[in-house]
Amino acid sequence: MNVDVLLGLQWGDEGKGKIVDVLTSNYNIIARFQGGPNAGHTLEFDGIKHVLHTIPSGIFHQGVINLIGNGVVIDPVIFKKEIESISKLNVKTSELLISKKAHLILPTHKLLDAASEKAKGKEKIGSTLKGIGPTYMDKTGRNGLRVGDISSNNFEEKYNALKNKHLQILNFYDYEYDLTEIEEKWFDSLSVLKKFQHIDSEHYLHNAIKNNKKILAEGAQGTLLDIDFGSYPFVTSSNTISAGACTGLGISPRHIGDTYGIFKAYCTRVGSGPFPSELFDETGEKIGKIGNEFGATTGRPRRCGWIDIPALKYAININGVTQLMMMKADVLSGFDKIKACTHYLLNGKKIDYLPFEDNDKLIPVYKELSGWKENLMEIESLSEAPKELHKYIKWLEKELELPIKIVSVGPDRKQTFFR
Ligand code: GDP
Ligand code: IMO
Ligand code: MG
Repeated sequence: MNVDVLLGLQWGDEGKGKIVDVLTSNYNIIARFQGGPNAGHTLEFDGIKHVLHTIPSGIFHQGVINLIGNGVVIDPVIFKKEIESISKLNVKTSELLISKKAHLILPTHKLLDAASEKAKGKEKIGSTLKGIGPTYMDKTGRNGLRVGDISSNNFEEKYNALKNKHLQILNFYDYEYDLTEIEEKWFDSLSVLKKFQHIDSEHYLHNAIKNNKKILAEGAQGTLLDIDFGSYPFVTSSNTISAGACTGLGISPRHIGDTYGIFKAYCTRVGSGPFPSELFDETGEKIGKIGNEFGATTGRPRRCGWIDIPALKYAININGVTQLMMMKADVLSGFDKIKACTHYLLNGKKIDYLPFEDNDKLIPVYKELSGWKENLMEIESLSEAPKELHKYIKWLEKELELPIKIVSVGPDRKQTFFR
């Protein structure tokens, strides 16, 4: 059986958590493949709202394996909090498996993240400060500590060796810190992480594929935050794209089935970096307000703008998307006109792709579509939706040359329509 992949096509926060939860009943295994607690994946059902950071979004379904893959980086402190918060809801966590090859975020990784951002001043990435960049740097620098190391006899020795390297770098940054308390908390939290099954997850998945199990790979962040193909350097430190599912889980491209690309009916970005269709006026503010656009991890307000077609086409190509899912259509209710960026002007010349340089100089050119007034959050089927929404969907499908299979009109599981 093939592995389907679900990932974000914009700058993250497209609604991945909600849709993974909706689709989980079709799968045996949900496997997160990259990123760490920089992610905030929100789910809503039965009037309760949950935000997950490290744990895959299939965790609320019984009888489904949730797996944290080798491509993920784990902060034991945040992991412990997540476990405590879902355990309060009587959610079974015995079906949560963790790759021995997943890297650990140390307290000093977080300090390094903060020191690096401070040193960058106005040029800062706008990192979530969860230690993501420094942890992946240690992974590629071949210095990192992995989940499988926790049970080794010389774990503390390895920890101290890496910590001491970090302290030297912090010295270079001239960054003040107090490690005692956070280190104590980290070791205390490690005991929770230790209780879970640490496995050779690539072998586990190979067997599952052989035994026809249905697997969904859950991405974090979005394509435009990808380390290679995002708006570098204003990106995260992992491959958020479909290729990341192969490296982040140890599965071959031959085993990838459908790739579900999720996007909002408009666009948001949190943190620094170019955003060609960003709105700096009351329309942008209105979208942010109606869409409740605040980061699920940091609470920072998200920057808002109209949908960006060239950026979406780029993301579709890089990922080999087979099906699209459009989120937050309800947020666009009440606008007389909806705009969509169809191309850009760069130094007066028309371009329809994201160039290597000068992304912050791109002037968006828009097509205007008719808006609608009706509140979509109460509708029970898409046939009740205004014709203007149907027109918007059809127009997007034509532009993007792919079917939009899901339209979401609210944060709840139930506010999801299949086409
Ligand atoms: P993720 O990181 O891709 O999982 O997305 P986030 O959870 O960070 O952000 C998506 C936000 O939009 C969350 O607050 C969701 O509850 C909410 N959401 C998801 N789908 C919809 C939708 O169709 N309409 C509205 N109004 N909110 C939605
Ligand atoms: P989910 O999975 C939105 C952004 C940060 C910053 C940049 C680098 O919820 O969609 P990092 O902490 O990775 O060093 O930050 O990436 N960022 C996200 N933006 N959603 C996310 O995850 C993000 N994870 C990181 O705001 O601009
Ligand atoms: Mg999020």
